[in-house]
Amino acid sequence: MKNYHQLFTFARNALENAYAPYSRFRVGAAVEADDGRIYTGCNVENVSYPCGTCAEASAIAAMVCGGGKTIRRILITSDGSSLVTPCGACLQRIGEFADADTEILLADRTGIQQTFKIAELLPNAFKEF
Ligand code: THU
Repeated sequence: MKNYHQLFTFARNALENAYAPYSRFRVGAAVEADDGRIYTGCNVENVSYPCGTCAEASAIAAMVCGGGKTIRRILITSDGSSLVTPCGACLQRIGEFADADTEILLADRTGIQQTFKIAELLPNAFKEF
């Protein structure tokens, strides 16, 4: 469980840097990639609302930029009291770099509460997992 706790800590730290002055809803994400490294992201909003990016999108971009090829697991955590499931667009982004074993971990302030496989959240995807 060490990796899981590490992922949680990285995502919580990323959340601290979230730029969410409009929604006031901070989100942090941490990806463990096939290279064993952890890549993080936070949501970055914009005065032109549609220009904002989700935490998952920035973590995945960091992974690709750093040379990671596949997402082993991604953890998402927020400021809110309920768990944050990735939005449809982010499921598609995760799916691009996922395989059948990829885990999506949802955490509240205290730790991981729910775990999914990509095929559970993005069933009948254009890509087969
Ligand atoms: N958000 C994420 O970063 N990830 C999600 O999975 C859901 C939503 C962000 C987008 C926006 O900045 C804020 O949360 C409120 O929707």
